Amino acid sequence: MPSDINIQSGDETLSIDIESIPILEVEDIIKIYKTGKIETQALRGVSFKVLPREKLFLIGPSGSGKTTLVSIIAGMVKPSSGKVFWKDLAKDITRSSLEEIIKARRNFAGVIFQDSRLLPHLTVEENIVLAGHYAKVQSHIIEERTEFLLQFLGIWDKRNKKQNTLSGGERKRAAIATTLITNPTIMIGDEPTGDLDVVTAENILDLFDKINEELGIAICIVTHSQQVATRADRILELKDGIVQGQHSSKIQLRKLDKSRILSVDRQNRLAIPKSILQEIDNPKNFSISIENKNIVLKPITYTNLFNKNTPARTCRICGNLEKTKSNFCSNCGAVITQDSEN
Ligand SMILES: Nc1ncnc2c1ncn2[C@@H]1O[C@H](COP(=O)(O)OP(=O)(O)O)[C@@H](O)[C@H]1O
Ligand SMILES: [Mg+2]
Repeated sequence: MPSDINIQSGDETLSIDIESIPILEVEDIIKIYKTGKIETQALRGVSFKVLPREKLFLIGPSGSGKTTLVSIIAGMVKPSSGKVFWKDLAKDITRSSLEEIIKARRNFAGVIFQDSRLLPHLTVEENIVLAGHYAKVQSHIIEERTEFLLQFLGIWDKRNKKQNTLSGGERKRAAIATTLITNPTIMIGDEPTGDLDVVTAENILDLFDKINEELGIAICIVTHSQQVATRADRILELKDGIVQGQHSSKIQLRKLDKSRILSVDRQNRLAIPKSILQEIDNPKNFSISIENKNIVLKPITYTNLFNKNTPARTCRICGNLEKTKSNFCSNCGAVITQDSEN
């Protein structure tokens, strides 16, 4: 498969490595749910990209926004603000009609959830074929691909069985087959192995590896499983609706503080994990300096930020004479440091 595309621009030819062009791009997603008068901010500005053939897992505690995020990237839930780009759809999906999204998703994403089910009155093979017709795949391709998938996913001898006679793992393989009939670019899932026992879940995770490696399909799934931690190319850790950090593979889910890589977001913000702040007594203000190309944040405590003997201080930013003991100027909100005292 060629990994370069050449674009002619005047006399120049521009060569682009297509493996470096993201297939999925999420920009500053905010999602607020409103239930009556109660508002829940499930996502508070999430941005990331997925590259072709990448294996990305999303982890995070319950309520951190994982389900909301995968539902948004799969085009099933609209964010309150932010953008989502899919390969081959030349516009932001949050600005696309439902019809456009459904049409584009057929080729782009295979979506699998924990409770993905087969139609109970149809056999495994009939379920896969029906999914192909529903997605408007050509009949001869459906036939060829159904046979291939039944073998590839290890359920050839179950093809004439109905859902109620299959084991949990076999049912999951069949559900995966229905999502692969369109030969998607990416598989998106929300805890797809969450309802399986440990051994069966492990086998299904092996299958995701095989789908990724042999069919070249990117993977973006939410999981709680420690097993995935050793399988991913990259792991995104969500917490309270933001990306708390990223991890490369081979992590221990119980020791995330040791492997976390913090990223500056599009607004130049850096989220410092709560557990780390707690270790140094939750400081709220820091001085910032650069030492040997390292950024050094030093907590500023009450005593060095505010001198009790000084009855009033002048704000360096707006000139206000600050008479309260606050660390912030009551006129403009700027931090009042010792430097700004007269
Ligand atoms: N449909 C909804 N209506 C109102 N609040 C919701 C809805 N779905 C999720 N939430 C809230 O949004 C937050 C994130 O939820 P969710 O995305 O399900 O997190 P996770 O999958 O990480 O457990 C939670 O506080 C949850 O209660
Ligand atoms: Mg969830």
